[in-house]
Amino acid sequence: MRVLVLGSGGREHALARALHRDPSVTALHCAPGNPGTAPIAENHALDPADPTAVVELAGRLRAELVVVGPEAPLMEGVADALGRAGIPCFGPDREAATIEGSKAFAKDIMGAANVPTAAARVCETDAEVQEALDAFGAPYVVKDDGLAAGKGVVVTEDRAEAAAHAASCGRVVIEEYLDGPEVSLFALCDGNSAVPLLPAQDFKRAYDGGEGPNTGGMGAYAPLPWAPPGLVDEVMATVVQPAVDELRRRNTPYVGVLYAGLALTPKGVRVVEFNARFGDPETQVVLDRLATPLASLLQACAIGGLNPDFRPEWHEGAAVTVVIAAENYPAAPAKGDVIEGLDAANEVPGAYVLHAGTKRDADGNLVANGGRVLNVVGSGPDLAAARAAAYEAVSRITLRGSHHRTDIALTASGG
Ligand code: AMP
Ligand code: GLY
Repeated sequence: MRVLVLGSGGREHALARALHRDPSVTALHCAPGNPGTAPIAENHALDPADPTAVVELAGRLRAELVVVGPEAPLMEGVADALGRAGIPCFGPDREAATIEGSKAFAKDIMGAANVPTAAARVCETDAEVQEALDAFGAPYVVKDDGLAAGKGVVVTEDRAEAAAHAASCGRVVIEEYLDGPEVSLFALCDGNSAVPLLPAQDFKRAYDGGEGPNTGGMGAYAPLPWAPPGLVDEVMATVVQPAVDELRRRNTPYVGVLYAGLALTPKGVRVVEFNARFGDPETQVVLDRLATPLASLLQACAIGGLNPDFRPEWHEGAAVTVVIAAENYPAAPAKGDVIEGLDAANEVPGAYVLHAGTKRDADGNLVANGGRVLNVVGSGPDLAAARAAAYEAVSRITLRGSHHRTDIALTASGG
């Protein structure tokens, strides 16, 4: 199978790595890819959110599957354009992707499908905002209605901060605070049916102990030893399948990965958010554990005919990923600093480094080129071993000013 992966981050490096080890993949291309995908795929310089350019490249490569990594191409209609060209695309069309692109749309789907989520109000004026803040009380949860790469959300005890965030956004969703551990569950969907992957946990705050600003994610691990038995079946039955059914009923069948961000509250499972793409960096650990070849699974979604009873196979043990972030991430990440020690890191047994925000400079040096620069993945028979491998590899990497959390999977590993 000839496969094209769109995107340039750690998630896309992980996707390319999983596709590379699938024997059915005969040609692997990335657009634009990154220095980490270069040894395993052919990289093509291209804006992945430009539908015309993507269709032209996919046609020229005679791609039998295009896998869309980030959300921006989805919202720009890349899947729609590939569909019109008859090229199988793993990723929802623009309307279905609105489940991520608009929090208000997601709430509407959840309401219609009876999916458990936080009570919420859509607010457009200051008066509506003040009323909603009164109604729900502290801690306040204020979300930009538009696409903000997971960064448009403020959760705060400080009412003035909540109101100020609302004022800076325009249309916002203000909602009930959900108390409890968070789980990311990815389901592969073909428009009708859905197949779950392994649940994972993400660490959204920048610093140890959950301190500091919200980020795209500073680390992740899977599986979740503490997850209640039956969690995946419950979420498939009460969240994923009802959402997929509702989208199909609205003539916007959902094809791709539906990412359910969940809170396990004392009152039961609640959806925090839906995303229309693989989570980053959770994908890095989930795909590390995947034993089933990935390409045919994604292609079955893209062309229809996914067997809803199919369950992927998983390697025993656990995986942990630690994000190495650039100086000043997330506010204003420093770019251009040289990264060293990757070879030594890749020599740590059970560990390897995925590129998330890197590039080669004019001299061929590997330099930081994004907020989240590297994802160091460690695996082992249990979370403690996976953590040890990941952090040993992290310790061998140098990047001026960089920072990472030291507590990824610490509690879950019994540490
Ligand atoms: P979102 O972009 O909706 O995932 O929000 C980003 C992060 O904000 C989530 O992962 C949660 O940590 C937090 N968050 C969002 N909504 C809520 C909520 N209703 N209650 C508590 N925390 C929330
Ligand atoms: N890891 C969170 C996200 O991908 O939005």
